[in-house]
Amino acid sequence: MNVGIVGIGYWGPNLVRNLNENKEFKIKYICDLSRAKLNKINLADNEAIKTTNIKDLLLDKNLAAVFIATPVNTHFKLAKLCLKANKHVFVEKPLSDSKQNCTALIELAKKKSLSLFVDHTFLYTPAVMKIKKISQKKDFGNLIYYDSTRINLGLIQDDINVLWDLAVHDISILNYLCNEKPEKVSCVGHKYIPSKPETAAYLTLKYRSNFIAHINVNWLSPVKIRKTILGGSKKMIVYNDLEPSDKLTIYNKGIDVIKKEKSTTNLIKYKVGDTIVPSLKMKEALSQAISDFYQTIVNKKFKSKSNGTKGLEVVEILEAATKSMKLEGKSIII
Ligand SMILES: NC(=O)c1ccc[n+]([C@@H]2O[C@H](COP(=O)([O-])OP(=O)(O)OC[C@H]3O[C@@H](n4cnc5c(N)ncnc54)[C@H](O)[C@@H]3O)[C@@H](O)[C@H]2O)c1
Repeated sequence: MNVGIVGIGYWGPNLVRNLNENKEFKIKYICDLSRAKLNKINLADNEAIKTTNIKDLLLDKNLAAVFIATPVNTHFKLAKLCLKANKHVFVEKPLSDSKQNCTALIELAKKKSLSLFVDHTFLYTPAVMKIKKISQKKDFGNLIYYDSTRINLGLIQDDINVLWDLAVHDISILNYLCNEKPEKVSCVGHKYIPSKPETAAYLTLKYRSNFIAHINVNWLSPVKIRKTILGGSKKMIVYNDLEPSDKLTIYNKGIDVIKKEKSTTNLIKYKVGDTIVPSLKMKEALSQAISDFYQTIVNKKFKSKSNGTKGLEVVEILEAATKSMKLEGKSIII
């Protein structure tokens, strides 16, 4: 299947590399507004056409799909153009910059029977897949909390605040791990540079089942941290994405809450058991996401972990969080 890539800034070259290794897809075009970036890209033995004009891709009847890795505020316009030109679309996270735009893309893809896929990369990491497996087992108990720190000295962007760049990953993971949507969202943001969007945010999601999630994202951290704790009533998982191999540690640690007879108080019993470091397969998430995208094209019944609707569900939360931030942390009901 011939495909094109639009946008080869920071992330686009990862698409080039993974698509070059994929047997089902062949890169026919690489498009970027910047000629300098196009000149820099090394395609080895791939004879793809380099262009600054997306029209070359849209007018090619032998082009089946387009991969979009451009800034978030361009996703809607570019994805719409591609869908209208009958191309399947793979969009980098987040799907778009508003709920309304996501809905319009989903409807257009449906009308044209085309695949619309969002690259929520973390859903395809062996670590997150393992967390899902472990947390669904009875011996993990109920989900109590999710606490994530995702901070580094990041590129300060003009079109999106830090939530849309970093918290988007945690929200997609939460939607994948939980069988419910959050009920309420509140977020306090921090704007350090007056002319730029918020560079730090503290986001809290509350669920009907009493599960709570807290996400700390920051573009102004001197160190890079990617650490998440998932607390269950029987076990707890610590996920450090920066560890090269031992990314997950499962603690058989926690408390037993014992109800005292004829009393409203509870007794708390602490328990400490074994700690396990599960082995994880070494698979690049992006190559798995690309394979899933291919499956959605060739098999209309294939249920992928990520698609337009999942992208919309993430954007709905990002939009509510941004609204809460503007209202100084006011709780927004979703
Ligand atoms: N999946 C992940 O883990 C992951 C990681 C990083 C970035 N991303 C996503 O990838 C996307 C791109 O991010 P980035 O960091 O590579 O941005 P970037 O700014 O480094 O690169 C964007 C590129 O798009 C080009 N571009 C802009 N508008 C264009 C247009 N209309 N037509 C053609 N080219 C155009 C720019 O010239 C630039 O080269 C974003 O959606 C981002 O959220 C995903």
